[in-house]
Amino acid sequence: MPTPPSEMSSWLRHQPSLIGTAPAWDASAAPDSPVDLFRNWIGAAVQAGVPEPHVATLATVGADGIPDARALILKDVDERGWAFAGPRGSRKADHLAVHPAAALSFWWQPLVRAVRARGRVVEAAAEESAADLAARSATARSGIEPGDWVLWRLVPERIEFWQGSPDRRHVRLVYESRDGAWVRTDAGAASA
Ligand SMILES: Cc1cc2nc3c(=O)[nH]c(=O)nc-3n(C[C@H](O)[C@H](O)[C@H](O)COP(=O)(O)O)c2cc1C
Repeated sequence: MPTPPSEMSSWLRHQPSLIGTAPAWDASAAPDSPVDLFRNWIGAAVQAGVPEPHVATLATVGADGIPDARALILKDVDERGWAFAGPRGSRKADHLAVHPAAALSFWWQPLVRAVRARGRVVEAAAEESAADLAARSATARSGIEPGDWVLWRLVPERIEFWQGSPDRRHVRLVYESRDGAWVRTDAGAASA
């Protein structure tokens, strides 16, 4: 049973980080679309046995201008965006009604890989939200009316794929949406 640290900052500093095994990855050969690269990376995460690789942290901003973040499940990814869902009466729904924009962050520790996306958020059609609710288990659906459940899509304007390296020569590949096309930038071996 670990004892609580008396000197927290020193204890934290000594916790190991970036201890996964990064796969070989040639960022210069990455696909034109971040959707394809994301599919490839989440597929690799599943193959590597990453638990719950479809869980992400979603950050939103409240009416008071203060961000909030919570874990949730990624429902779909395609050229329309990164889909997630939740109750209409939730805090995130309130935030998105005021600021229809968000950020999503994934961390696949065993592969030393992280992905983050930011952009506008749009509400899916009522039928899509209803279909998402219907696809949940009976227990998860219990007490939720179709109109009380929302599927949203984050439509990224920027997506960063980051792969860590023990020698701190981390690789960052950034896709930015410009005039409807993806511009890819190898942000290089930025250290952190
Ligand atoms: C692994 C995991 C998956 C979750 N999936 C969802 C989800 O898909 N949708 C959701 O609304 N909340 C999900 N939650 C709960 C959220 O983290 C959060 O507590 C809840 O959405 C309320 O957040 P809000 O008050 O900011 O709206 C999940 C939590 C965890 C830990």
